Amino acid sequence: MAIQLDSITYTYGVGTPFEKQALSGISLSIENGEFLGIIGHTGSGKSTFVQHLNGLLHPTTGTVTVNGVDISAKTEEAKTMRHKVGMVFQYPEHQLFEETIAQDIAFGPKNLGLPDDEVDRRVREAMQFVGLHYDIYAERSPFHLSGGQMRRVAIAGVIAMEPDFLVLDEPSAGLDPFGREEIFEQIIKLHKEKGITVILVSHNMEDISRMATRLIVLDKGQVVLDGEPLTIFKDHRQVLQSVGVDVPPVSVLIESLRERGLPISNDILTVDDAVEAIVEGGQHVK
Ligand SMILES: Nc1ncnc2c1ncn2[C@@H]1O[C@H](COP(=O)(O)OP(=O)(O)OP(=O)(O)O)[C@@H](O)[C@H]1O
Ligand SMILES: [Mg+2]
Repeated sequence: MAIQLDSITYTYGVGTPFEKQALSGISLSIENGEFLGIIGHTGSGKSTFVQHLNGLLHPTTGTVTVNGVDISAKTEEAKTMRHKVGMVFQYPEHQLFEETIAQDIAFGPKNLGLPDDEVDRRVREAMQFVGLHYDIYAERSPFHLSGGQMRRVAIAGVIAMEPDFLVLDEPSAGLDPFGREEIFEQIIKLHKEKGITVILVSHNMEDISRMATRLIVLDKGQVVLDGEPLTIFKDHRQVLQSVGVDVPPVSVLIESLRERGLPISNDILTVDDAVEAIVEGGQHVK
């Protein structure tokens, strides 16, 4: 059943001079087990959209349901469903505030009113999952970590809530390539090993096309494309261009090599696959 959005619109500052419609008429189902990538030009509505998935924002019109429950409702059931959707914001380290890493990760589960031993179990498991050794890191301050490590703590805090869905809004922003890789490894592992449904907003086309099983493209608060990454980047370049979204650099390279007569497939989105195909294709060129 998963997450269902039915004709949602969202307007900021209704009735003020700053009134701004950020989402207009989005209907969408996000199925269990998907890895949904969300792309779109700056201001297209990505962050506004994802904040609807756990009830941080409620639609101005339309409904959002999680496992069939309207999450705008003021019921216990709606609250339980909202907790099934974990959210990691851009610069999640700004969400850290406790004195120790363990306390920070424990904050959410404690708020759920879970018994201490269950909180402790979750903290240990979440730390292990993100590769932070409990004995070394539990009592340390989260503020003396590297950027990549801080984000791992923030992600551990969300994992400790044991969500079914994980929403990440630009989780690699401002990290160096090593930190970025660290974060994406964790996300891929969560999707593969825990079967968590992932919803990822990213400006990095290469990262997103490598991981997402489905991609939606937003423009002016509407979904303009929805499909497999390969199909979107291969067959809808003009639409992407018209809404100001880049295609992955690898796709551009492959296309231009094909135009010059190199016999290689255009079903390629990653650098590794491109290297293999170019070497292979080059062997057929005299
Ligand atoms: N708090 C707010 N008050 C008024 N307007 C807002 C607010 N937040 C966002 N907007 C406007 O809503 C629209 C969508 O913004 P949103 O932040 O969702 O876009 P985005 O796709 O996440 O952009 P970015 O890629 O820059 O993160 C934009 O026009 C933005 O200016
Ligand atoms: Mg945003």
